[in-house]
Order: sequence, then C-alpha cells, then structure tokens
Amino acid sequence: MQDIQNIVILTGAGISAESGIATFRGPGGLWEGHRVEEVCTPEALAHDPDLVHRFYDLRRAALANVVPNAAHDALARLDREWSGELLIVTQNVDDLHERAGATRMLHMHGELNSALCAACDTRVAWRESLPPGSACATCGAEALRPDIVFFGEMPYRMEVIERALSRADLFVSIGTSGAVYPAAGFVQTARYHGAQTLELNLEPSAGSVYFSEVRLGAAGVLVPEWVEALLTQA
Ligand code: APR
Repeated sequence: MQDIQNIVILTGAGISAESGIATFRGPGGLWEGHRVEEVCTPEALAHDPDLVHRFYDLRRAALANVVPNAAHDALARLDREWSGELLIVTQNVDDLHERAGATRMLHMHGELNSALCAACDTRVAWRESLPPGSACATCGAEALRPDIVFFGEMPYRMEVIERALSRADLFVSIGTSGAVYPAAGFVQTARYHGAQTLELNLEPSAGSVYFSEVRLGAAGVLVPEWVEALLTQA
C-alpha cells in the first residue's frame, strides 16, 4: 500500500442503494413497465419527451428524500484526507457524493440537478421539474433537456478520466455491475497502466475477473473499512 499515490474510484448505483435509491438492474429496475434502457435514449426523448422528462422529474424530486450513507461519507473523508491525487468518477446522477462533502469528483453520466440546452449546450443548475420545451436563458431556444448521458451518447469528461486512469496506482470500483461501457472498461485501462485494482460490490460483477482483488458485501460496510485501512497504512 505504501506505493500508492494516485487513486481513481468508480462508483455506480450500488453505492447509493443503502440510501434508498433503486439500482438499475436489480429488482426495482423497471419504471412503469419500461426498461431503463428504453427511457434513457435520444430516440425516446425525441418521440416521447413527456415520458422521459417525467422519469427524470420524479428521480430529481426523490433526491429530497434521501441522504448520503456511510459509503459516501467514507469517500468524502478520503477526499479530505488523501494527500495524493484522487478522482471519484461516478456513473450516478444523484448528488450524494457532493452532499457527503466530496469535491474531487465528476459525473460521467450527467446530473439530475442540471439542465442542458440541446441547442447551445449551456448547462444550468436545475432543482425543479423540467417540462419539455422549457426555454434556455442563454439562447432562448425551448430546448432544455435533462443533463443526463443517454444510451448512445458520449459520457462526459472522458479525457480527464483517461488521464487519471493512466496515472493511477490504484483503481477501485464500487457498486457497479460492469454492464455499461466505457466505465466497464476502466479496470482494464487501469491495469494496462500498472494500477492495482480492487472491486467492492454486493455480488460478482460482469468485470470481476479483471480485478486483482474482489471484496463482496454492502458498500456501507466495505467502503468505510477500506478507507480506514488505506488512511491508517498511508
Ligand atoms: N453495496 C454494494 N453494491 C451493491 C449494493 C450495495 N448495498 N446494492 C447493489 N449493489 C450492486 C449490485 O450487485 C450491482 O452489481 O451494485 C450494482 C448495481 O448495478 P447497476 O444497477 O447495473 O448500476 P450501474 O452499474 O451503476 O449502472 C451503470 O447503467 O443504466 C445505466 O447510466 C446508467 O449509470 C448507469 C449505468
């Protein structure tokens, strides 16, 4: 552990499960009879904007009823106390990492609390419901959409993530099924660049075989244990 300076952490829906936010591919992964993959596409947004906006309006509103759990808190502690480089890359669109206090992080799949103008690409903080046809304050186009990366769209900040992975001594994946690329491939990129790799997940994921170590269990238990050990040994 003493050789570790630069850490990249990938989080997925599993880290927010104990806060009460349903994961995508678990038992609660259906929404009004739709698979999430059917709702979260550019085609769905074009053909049924009411459905897509409503889906995200409900998820945005639900943030008011959840709080960060011990896993978010532990990563925020690591963010405060780790003197080396750290990047927390979350696939989650909730705001629980920030609310726990993490700052060295980014949302590669977008954020519920943000709206994106499809006409001019301006982003604006958004906490309310977002009806289709809402006007952009910058360009005036009635084109605000949820600031969410849909299936088939390019995840955000990939150049920052790739750079961090190329420098990482340790890559840790927490609460993700490894079903969605490019995030599912980060472990292989990190390994290619010589990083140690650790998976913390409730059950084996699609990518478990690529990790040098896998610990199975709840994020609310495993993540605080791992952070405590890392900070103690550093
Ligand atoms: N602690 C740790 N892991 C957990 C917990 C928990 N308490 N509860 C569930 N998990 C694990 C599940 O075993 C599963 O492997 O979290 C994983 C969640 O997987 P998914 O639901 O597929 O979520 P995620 O990997 O984040 O999905 C990736 O897919 O739908 C898209 O864009 C969406 O960002 C999302 C992406």
